[in-house]
Amino acid sequence: MDNQKELAKAALEARNLSYSPYSGFRVGAALVCKDGQIYTGANIENAAYSPTNCAERTAFFKAVMDGHQRGFSAIFIAGGANDAPADFCPPCGVCRQVMREFCNPDEFSVFLVKSEDEVREYKLCELLPLSFGPEDL
Ligand code: THU
Repeated sequence: MDNQKELAKAALEARNLSYSPYSGFRVGAALVCKDGQIYTGANIENAAYSPTNCAERTAFFKAVMDGHQRGFSAIFIAGGANDAPADFCPPCGVCRQVMREFCNPDEFSVFLVKSEDEVREYKLCELLPLSFGPEDL
């Protein structure tokens, strides 16, 4: 992706908006649409724990409520417990399934961001093989 560094930065910046007083684990995401639109998200925790929403789903749900249900090309994810991520943060299984709902698993890229210059790319099909999606119903 040509503006990879800029999008990694967007995920790192979104991470600053994380509401995570219980885990202290801050995650940011930047969801990229083919038309150039970017939707950011952060994890939002809750005192009852289970209502917690991950950064990736925050970004997807913002996009859907803005009228985008298709045409996503990639998501950049940055997460960790410290000021700066100490490692790459892979998306949880629930978020992978939400990506599967709205994206082509062979085409959609998941970029894990440790820093602006340390980014790893995976295809959704690698992270969620033999997946169940809308066409299976
Ligand atoms: N978290 C995310 O935001 N995305 C993931 O894919 C992994 C986990 C959040 C949820 C919770 O607020 C914190 O990280 C610790 O699990």
